[in-house]
Amino acid sequence: MFATLQEQPADKILSLVQRFKEDPRSDKIDLGVGVYRDAEGLTPIMRSVKAAEKTLWENQESKSYVSLVGDIAFSDVMVDLLLGDLVPRDSVAAAATPGGTGAVRQALELVQMANTGARVFVSDPTWPNHLSILKHLGIEMVPYRYFDSYTGSVNYSDMVEDLATAKPGDVVLLHGCCHNPTGANMNMSQWQGVIDVLLKTGATPMIDIAYQGFGDGLDEDAAPTRLVSSSVPECIIAVSCSKNFGIYRERTGILMVTLQDKSLLALNQATLAYLNRQNFSFPPDHGARLVTMILSDFNLRQDWQSELEAIRVSMLDLRNQLAMSLQKASGSDRFGFLAEHRGMFSRLGTTSEKVDLLREKHGIYMVGDSRLNIAGLNSKTVPVLAHAIIDCGI
Ligand code: LMR
Repeated sequence: MFATLQEQPADKILSLVQRFKEDPRSDKIDLGVGVYRDAEGLTPIMRSVKAAEKTLWENQESKSYVSLVGDIAFSDVMVDLLLGDLVPRDSVAAAATPGGTGAVRQALELVQMANTGARVFVSDPTWPNHLSILKHLGIEMVPYRYFDSYTGSVNYSDMVEDLATAKPGDVVLLHGCCHNPTGANMNMSQWQGVIDVLLKTGATPMIDIAYQGFGDGLDEDAAPTRLVSSSVPECIIAVSCSKNFGIYRERTGILMVTLQDKSLLALNQATLAYLNRQNFSFPPDHGARLVTMILSDFNLRQDWQSELEAIRVSMLDLRNQLAMSLQKASGSDRFGFLAEHRGMFSRLGTTSEKVDLLREKHGIYMVGDSRLNIAGLNSKTVPVLAHAIIDCGI
């Protein structure tokens, strides 16, 4: 039977991790997978996470099942963290999921259950796994123009032109903040323009937000999601806690559906529970419990926020250093967009051949579309990268 299996394309991001491991060069630089690393190249466990784990170890009395949608307290703190006061809690259906990817997968299955003919509009480019999951589920995808690789910014006019072709029953997938892979983000008036298009077309937004707190701050990064979800009748939101709590391997995420028509809440909540049961039954609890403990304890929350803020500022600092180094090395401002981008990623906007050259000649690893993970740099490697970029003729 299994001889009939078709080989699947390798994941572009994860296959790079393996390649990097196999490279014997000691001065190689990993700017691939989106994992935060400090100046020593480590992905530390956050202080608040360690403290919550200790308390949990001392006090937890059972590992029995919780509920199909996870602990309601987790949903409560996450709805509050992301949506603040703008969306009433009793208009949000929510279910814990295994990571943000789990939330994306459940969201798309939900879309398919609601409308088998739904098309999903995806930014060009987007996170490769969005495309892979859509293909796996057999959902039609429609790319919309998003990035101007010449200016390194959002190609807004073409974007709204493409989104205007959506219909009721279609879904528009948006990155809530820190667009992956480009790092280029809309301003609030552009977000308002997208909302106008959504209201005009009747399409449903789906927001994937995996980097709240990595861009301009916790509330600033949540602002577009708050604006969209409080302006449209229905909104799907897939959230990851992997990055902002640094709990990647704990697989902590949540799927939310906001509904202006509150009479739909019970049906949606039950459907999320049903979907969890079909796919994995109970969602992982450990990471979700830590997040709940941190967000509901004043001191832990303060400490988490200050550590997250330090991470955010360190990435901004690296962005500025890189833009300056490149300005010096190239004698031009053409890489100034690196300082304007937000989050872990920026797309350089060069060819895959040049990306190969960077890897082969300089041992610098980035995704083939020229996405680089800013957090993979430190002040020693910034000038090395700047020199290599110019040396490779980028
Ligand atoms: C990334 O884009 O590198 C991260 O979101 C990790 C992943 O799962 O791809």
